[in-house]
Amino acid sequence: MPENKKIKMILNGALGRMGGYVLDTVLDTNDIEIIHGVDPSVTDATNNYKGINLVSNIDEVLNEGIDVVVDFTNSEVTMDIVNKCKDNNVDLIIGSTGFTQSQINELENIADNSHITVFLVPNFSIGANLLMKAVENISNYYDYVDVTEMHHENKVDSPSGTAMSIAESISKGKKSGKFSQNIPERESIKHARGADYDGINIHSRRMPGYVAHHEVVFGSLGETLTLRHDSIDRKSFMPGVLESIRSIQTLQGFVYGLDNIL
Ligand SMILES: NC(=O)c1ccc[n+]([C@@H]2O[C@H](COP(=O)([O-])OP(=O)(O)OC[C@H]3O[C@@H](n4cnc5c(N)ncnc54)[C@H](O)[C@@H]3O)[C@@H](O)[C@H]2O)c1
Repeated sequence: MPENKKIKMILNGALGRMGGYVLDTVLDTNDIEIIHGVDPSVTDATNNYKGINLVSNIDEVLNEGIDVVVDFTNSEVTMDIVNKCKDNNVDLIIGSTGFTQSQINELENIADNSHITVFLVPNFSIGANLLMKAVENISNYYDYVDVTEMHHENKVDSPSGTAMSIAESISKGKKSGKFSQNIPERESIKHARGADYDGINIHSRRMPGYVAHHEVVFGSLGETLTLRHDSIDRKSFMPGVLESIRSIQTLQGFVYGLDNIL
């Protein structure tokens, strides 16, 4: 692809764990260029990564003919930069997680009332998205279900955005009746049964050793059905990130979930 046809992006959260992977992954492509990385922790000693200029404030660089901002920070930061993207007419791919429903509604509202695409992807892994599809097809055959998600000890939000999407898919697939739940008569420790989403129990584990793992167990008379996805390396998110960057111009308005481009 000719140099001038490269997709020009800004990476927000460039010095984070995901940011590091995205920097290296995009450097290996010949059709995408990171014009700037942004992270408030950038110093004079860290303002260049393999030739990519890193800055501490996105305001300095958003008006430089950028096609798309890819964001891996946290939901508060994202809610701030979406307005800046709108003002500068730059599409936004959101990898950050931890949004409330009202924040998601606001993102949708901003996209609908502007010319930018806002693509919110709670999980870029192909396998995790296949898990979301699979549970939607299965859930109507079962009356009991638990979702457990396991992540590294530094994750700030619980449950994970993916666990929420999995629960939504399970709920969507449940065409007849509601899920049954064991409600303990005595609960010596609060929330021992996990959190509740529409009759679906959700549990969160946090500890070193995990990257991102999701397990769904359906139960019925005399049987259980377990589906589990493990991201054992953050590399698992990179094909989905690249595909999102390459596809953003085919999307319009507010788009939720990687399945829209699979
Ligand atoms: N969608 C997915 O598939 C997926 C996969 C993994 C992680 N995540 C999410 O991505 C986000 C980042 O994860 P991480 O593990 O890289 O976190 P991290 O804490 O390692 O990195 C976040 C980075 O954002 C930077 N930051 C903070 N405020 C900023 C601002 N105003 N502007 C620019 N940068 C800012 C921080 O300095 C930090 O370097 C989290 O919300 C996480 O849950 C999503």
